[in-house]
Amino acid sequence: MRAVIAPSPGGPDSLVIADLPDLEPGPGEVVLDVVASAVNRADTLQRMGFYPPPPGASDVLGLECSGTVRSVGADVTGWSVGDEACALLAGGGYAEQVLVPAGQLMRVPAGVPLATAAALPEVASTVWSNVFMIANLQPGELFLVHGGAGGIGTFAIQAAAALGARVFTTAGTPEKQQLCLDLGAERAINYRDEDFVQVVSEAGGADVVLDNMGAKYLGPNVRALATEGRLVIIGMQGGIKAELDIAALLGKRGAVIATSLRSRPVAEKAAICRAVEEHVWPLVEAGRIKPMVQAEFSLDEVAAAHALMDAGEHSGKILLRT
Ligand SMILES: NC(=O)c1ccc[n+]([C@@H]2O[C@H](COP(=O)([O-])OP(=O)(O)OC[C@H]3O[C@@H](n4cnc5c(N)ncnc54)[C@H](OP(=O)(O)O)[C@@H]3O)[C@@H](O)[C@H]2O)c1
Repeated sequence: MRAVIAPSPGGPDSLVIADLPDLEPGPGEVVLDVVASAVNRADTLQRMGFYPPPPGASDVLGLECSGTVRSVGADVTGWSVGDEACALLAGGGYAEQVLVPAGQLMRVPAGVPLATAAALPEVASTVWSNVFMIANLQPGELFLVHGGAGGIGTFAIQAAAALGARVFTTAGTPEKQQLCLDLGAERAINYRDEDFVQVVSEAGGADVVLDNMGAKYLGPNVRALATEGRLVIIGMQGGIKAELDIAALLGKRGAVIATSLRSRPVAEKAAICRAVEEHVWPLVEAGRIKPMVQAEFSLDEVAAAHALMDAGEHSGKILLRT
């Protein structure tokens, strides 16, 4: 089977399509014939050598995919050869076949084309686990999501708005701000020329912040929190080390949380996938959350797909068809 690997750190052209042996499922595993995968920022970091796969994960890139069940290992119930599914992966999605712990398979939401479903597992699992399971966002609360026009952002805006939160977001161009408003944001702040702390504070402060910037926004995010606000950091696009004003956090009785989905144990990922099927897929099926796919590439065009993400000009998700 053909699969994309990053044998040496570098730019998009360092990616290589390798010929690897067909996959066989072990106990509790399923092999999918992959129809599509999607590009995540973690994949570009892995390509550059900054984010190696966790122990035991495939060297093949790709944190999510959709496809049909090719073979089923011992002890797997509920899945049969030929079933359509999408999957949350620790790696291996940019390939014609992928090995998946059965708990990380999800049914394809009704009405979503099988290939498009590849764009959902990572954003749905990340947003649901962080914003709702960990930060416990409630209807009527103010939710600030940074990077509202990105893959995570476009999903988070729609999910939070559908569940009754007030959504504020940041974006880098007027076009992207407009997209965020169209998706349900009450306010889209241009992070290049507006002060999000001021805008959010004037609205009462953020009960929950979903942050992709890390160090650069730690101080401003804490200042933007409401009393008992929860800041969840999921990205480090603005660096990894910063000072925390504990007095400011203490005065607000605030919480700062940071999580990584990829390294969580299989059982935790399975629990998140069940919660996504139960709580998020109905919103997708009702049209309240639309999968946002901006561009599609073939496996042979994987370098162009990565170049598009590196340029940062995309909105929503970038699909890779196998
Ligand atoms: N921890 C986890 O488990 C986990 C899981 C999934 C994703 N992530 C992380 O979540 C982040 C978003 O992922 P993604 O797939 O949505 O990537 P993406 O589609 O590339 O989006 C990146 C976003 O960053 C925004 N951005 C850039 N500079 C900014 C700034 N100064 N202020 C505010 N926003 C800024 C961009 O906004 P514009 O395009 O408007 O400039 C864009 O929306 C990444 O850092 C990724 O690594 C973490």
